[in-house]
Amino acid sequence: MAIQWSGLGPELLLRLDRDSGQPLRSQLEEGLREAIRSGRLQGGERLPSSRELARELGTSRGLVQECYSQLLSEGYLTSQIGSATRVAMGAYRAPAEPPPRPEPPPRLIADFRSGVPDLASFPRGDWVWATREACGSAANLDLDYGDPRGSAVLRGVLAAYLRRVRAASADPGQMIISTGFAQGVVLVLRALAQAGVRCVAFEDPGPSGAETSETVQAVGAIGVRTVHVPVDDLGIDVAALERSGAQAVVVTPAHQSPTGVVLAARRRHALVEWANRNDGFIVEDDYDSEFRYDREPVGVLQGLAPGRVFTIGTASKALAPAVRLGWILAPPSHAAAVAEEKRISDRGSSTLDQLVLAALLESGRYDRHLRRMRAIYGRRRATLIAILARHAPGIRLTGLAAGFHAVAHLPAGADEQAVVAAARERRVGLYGMSNFRAAQGGPPQLVLGFGQVGERAIEPGIAAVAGLLS
Ligand SMILES: Cc1ncc(COP(=O)(O)O)c(C=O)c1O
Repeated sequence: MAIQWSGLGPELLLRLDRDSGQPLRSQLEEGLREAIRSGRLQGGERLPSSRELARELGTSRGLVQECYSQLLSEGYLTSQIGSATRVAMGAYRAPAEPPPRPEPPPRLIADFRSGVPDLASFPRGDWVWATREACGSAANLDLDYGDPRGSAVLRGVLAAYLRRVRAASADPGQMIISTGFAQGVVLVLRALAQAGVRCVAFEDPGPSGAETSETVQAVGAIGVRTVHVPVDDLGIDVAALERSGAQAVVVTPAHQSPTGVVLAARRRHALVEWANRNDGFIVEDDYDSEFRYDREPVGVLQGLAPGRVFTIGTASKALAPAVRLGWILAPPSHAAAVAEEKRISDRGSSTLDQLVLAALLESGRYDRHLRRMRAIYGRRRATLIAILARHAPGIRLTGLAAGFHAVAHLPAGADEQAVVAAARERRVGLYGMSNFRAAQGGPPQLVLGFGQVGERAIEPGIAAVAGLLS
């Protein structure tokens, strides 16, 4: 073999070509010089010992030592007695004009961004505890490629959880663990596309606007047509869905995203009837239903029509988006097809992370965290209502039954984008409903998230923009 490649620390390869006729020592010197000059090896980085490098390259140790001492004398390397040889600081010649650093955005008084939970409240201690539990109790076999549907332990625990908390008709055999809702919806719609579905409807407002369209784009990439169906005060307009010709629909019945409307009982039934009549399928995005503030908990639609509904849940709202775990509860007739899509996609989600989530659920720590977060969001919600009533009494707030965002209705004729821009100048993050609309127009509204804004920041934030809201 003429050419040898040697891994030398992260992301560095040294090449010795034994057929080139060039002495190995000069090849090694040049290789190291080039790596330092180009910045592949950075100032302060440790080099392997001459013994290690000689072994990896299949050369004599003396050759590497000679090479190191040459580069030491040239100032590329430094070495002190008793410590490793390192790249000299300043040996890397940076490009003459480093690109200008962008100005960091000014710190906001309050950021009413929606969609992200309170990251500061992530239960780090519980996660560490559950990680120890999961690692300690996982069998060696659990570390192999597993069932693409996901860990049987997690699927069992989640099925019980969904039956208990969401009145779902759930069996572990129908569950597939995914990388959040983002992957779950794609897997489901791929499976439906394989079964002949050609057109999928999304709610409008919903995941359709310029800044929220990843899901719709991902579905478009599957090769199915996407259409948008309006949402009104009762939820998705089922008559419009019927007219759209879609064979599947993605909905947020428990707390419409982003209007916050709860799908009215008669619409729930109408939607199920639509699916039954048209051999259609409902993909239920059950993203933030853990956080309800009214006294009428709404079960999942799936409980009404287990053969027609795919329910997708996620840990992104209850814990944090970084967990990247979601779950699909599929109709029994389609569970294997979704599992196959998951297998093709990535062979299954991280079993270790799934076991951590299962330990959190089984130990009751997940429920305890939810109770704590419900109280935190409940206080923020109450503060938001009170503070808006004080500083901007003309503003109506809706969509507050669940989750951690609401909709503020601006006066008719207000310029939503101008309000958002002026608020930014006052260091308050406001976000317009138009970000979520597929169709142009619609009344001026703001989607006010309170996941990322602490209780104490709500009053100064709203006070700073009150003049813009009336
Ligand atoms: C409507 C809706 N559903 C689901 C999610 C969660 O997606 P994922 O589980 O991929 O993080 C989000 C995240 O913002 C969302 O807004």
